[in-house]
Amino acid sequence: MLILGIETTCDETGISIIKVISKKLGVWSDKIEILANEIATQYKIHSKYGGVVPILAAREHKKNLPIVYKDALRKAKINPEQIDYIAFAVGPGLAPALLAGKEFVIELSRKLDKPIIPVNHLFGHLIVSKLSSNKNLKSKIYNLKSVDIEFPAIGLIVSGGHTILLQMNNFFEYKKIGETVDDAIGECLDKAGRILGLEYPGGPKIEKLAKEGNPVFTLPKPMAFQKNLNFSFAGLKTAFVELVDEIKLLKKLDDLIKADLAASFQKAAFDSLLFKVKRAVELYKPKSLIVGGGVIANQTLRSLIVSMFKGLSVYFPDKNLATDNGVQIALAGYFLLQKSIQLENYNSVDINANRSI
Ligand code: KG4
Ligand code: ZN
Repeated sequence: MLILGIETTCDETGISIIKVISKKLGVWSDKIEILANEIATQYKIHSKYGGVVPILAAREHKKNLPIVYKDALRKAKINPEQIDYIAFAVGPGLAPALLAGKEFVIELSRKLDKPIIPVNHLFGHLIVSKLSSNKNLKSKIYNLKSVDIEFPAIGLIVSGGHTILLQMNNFFEYKKIGETVDDAIGECLDKAGRILGLEYPGGPKIEKLAKEGNPVFTLPKPMAFQKNLNFSFAGLKTAFVELVDEIKLLKKLDDLIKADLAASFQKAAFDSLLFKVKRAVELYKPKSLIVGGGVIANQTLRSLIVSMFKGLSVYFPDKNLATDNGVQIALAGYFLLQKSIQLENYNSVDINANRSI
């Protein structure tokens, strides 16, 4: 079985093709091979604006989708007719970007006469952890059974658009127990990057710069004294702007100070995040912690989580599958198929920019 995964919720045009390796036709299998994982990033376009401009993202998706699709077919060495399902991230995300994806998917589904599996982007970020322990790195074949996640679990999504805590009984039964009341953590790192004059997206650049500095500046930990499991990052950003302005009054922002500022900001953001994750773990006593979303590409955050939650099994996606991609959408589609969800077609598929998890 071949599943095409299409991701256009934000600024990455991602198309992947995964193969479900099954000896008998129609039998579910745990063996998954990634035949193609093509991504066209738009960093350069949005960089000069310091963040994603929805209308420009849509324009780029429209331009890139046919190219990325052809590249994926070529990489996978398959004909379009061999595709069995089209998994498509229908939300949450930027409405114009989702609309560009929808137009492409409708056209493709009509042309190939294949059903569409509507996928929640956030579900994709969590389920992709099932591909995280490929022992044989040379092979692109993954055994879903080898990542046997024990439930109940706490799910944590840390991306450019979301910061969410979930209490999960399994991948289909969960409740939201906390979320950000203002900025998402990735958005906050991107804004801090902008303040330091770093290119968008700031998250990976802050990580790199932070390694050369020390967290010598103290920044606030918003919401720490509130008993709930919600996050807030807007106050941290404001405090950072004020700190940088104060320093600028006294001296030039040289590379050394910038590195210390990056290290201080990153530490404050992660401390504030993990403070609430720790509280959730104490409250719900899960067996595992599953973390997904672009910010978990950050090695410092990964190490912090591993050392902080030693008693738990911790699951992360492979680093190259942490940020938005089509593989997680195709994989989520496969899990949904096994749950017999309602499939859509070119007449019925729809997007929902504000869809929650
Ligand atoms: O999941 P994602 O690709 O897109 C959304 O769904 O939002 O996440 C993008 C976010 C951006 O804010 C980006 O700065 C952040 O993930 N990010 C990182 C790293 N790589 C990407 N943040 C910190 N460290 C990284 N290495
Ligand atoms: Zn995402």
